[in-house]
Amino acid sequence: MVQLSSTLLIALSAVAVHGLPFFKRIDQTIADSTTQWVAACNAAGGGSQCSTLSVNAFETLLIGAGVCDQQNAADSMITLAKQLNNNANMISLAQIFAQQPRNTPTSQAVPYCQQAPNNTELNGYYQCQFSGANQQVFVGNLQVGAAGTIPFGLTTPVSPPGSCPANPSGPIADGDQLVNITTNPGTPATGSGQGNATASAASGSGSVTATATATTATATETESSECGGDDDDDGEETTTTAPTATAATSTATSSSSSSSFLLSNGQKAQQQNAQFSSLTSSTSCTAGTNACVNGDFAQCVDGAYVTTSCGSGLSCFALPLVNSAGTSITCATESDAASRIANTGATGGVTGSSS
Ligand SMILES: *[C@@H]1O[C@H](CO)[C@@H](O)[C@H](O)[C@H]1NC(C)=O
Ligand SMILES: *[C@@H]1O[C@H](CO)[C@@H](O)[C@H](O)[C@H]1NC(C)=O
Ligand SMILES: *[C@@H]1O[C@H](CO)[C@@H](O)[C@H](O)[C@H]1NC(C)=O
Repeated sequence: MVQLSSTLLIALSAVAVHGLPFFKRIDQTIADSTTQWVAACNAAGGGSQCSTLSVNAFETLLIGAGVCDQQNAADSMITLAKQLNNNANMISLAQIFAQQPRNTPTSQAVPYCQQAPNNTELNGYYQCQFSGANQQVFVGNLQVGAAGTIPFGLTTPVSPPGSCPANPSGPIADGDQLVNITTNPGTPATGSGQGNATASAASGSGSVTATATATTATATETESSECGGDDDDDGEETTTTAPTATAATSTATSSSSSSSFLLSNGQKAQQQNAQFSSLTSSTSCTAGTNACVNGDFAQCVDGAYVTTSCGSGLSCFALPLVNSAGTSITCATESDAASRIANTGATGGVTGSSS
């Protein structure tokens, strides 16, 4: 233990020399962010586009996503809603999705998109932040007030810091889903960049009423079909990101209470990754299951996989949970996947087959 500590100290001071603090990542179960929207979409007759847009959307909450990707995804969700008779539930839920906090790699607030959305229903909406994030310093070490730290169309920093129209009192708890907290997207912020309120009047902010209740059962079903898409470790609120492999060792050591399932989670992830390598988009599947097909995130819809690209540099993997027994299927870099599996003690790489 003494040896480990001194190794850790060396690792940390090496990190300090490079000017990086010991960062903490804040993440979430990203698939939860669109479960209700998918249910509303299915109920409105959106078919396979519902899950495709959903996967595209929840992946924009990952740390690698572009600053406007979340807004663009919400735009696509609203564009589809308009094709489905202006479905008001889908529009409200997309407005809430646009405000879901994104993962932060560094416990710093995440910058805001600086472009107008295509659909006026999104004017004045921007994401909340997680409460564990530093609301004064944004990812990229931007101080509040710097470019990117004030939502598009506004001229002063968000007040209170970390809030958004759907949760005007402040940031939300780390890992929480706005869509679980409220059915009301809130009153969009007004500012110089505001567009036209005519269309948004039809969307009826906060009008998730009888229909939303009616789709609750569907939402529950759909949710199990989307239990993958979990970002990062386990979707629990926070995880300590180890900047070096040595520091990661200490993370694993400190969580010895969970060691009973860590190794088996790692081995289970390896088995799944090995199985996934034989899947193709024509492999038949059980509705509601998730998998990886040729590196793409795949959801089984009507007995066939619907795949979604993970985006550049990322591929789909089964990864071990760290706080409970099980695995999650998500997009990650190959090296991140390999190190998460190795951290459980499982040897042989992502599929367990390399020596
Ligand atoms: C926004 O509109 C532009 C121009 O019509 C289009 O090219 C783009 O794909 C749209 N983006 C989204 C997310 O709907
Ligand atoms: C959100 O609600 C769903 C459905 O009730 C639940 O399964 C999920 O765990 C909730 N997520 C969070 C972060 O509260
Ligand atoms: C809002 O829409 C109306 C009708 O389409 C139009 O006449 C008006 O100029 C628009 N206002 C803004 C601020 O875009």
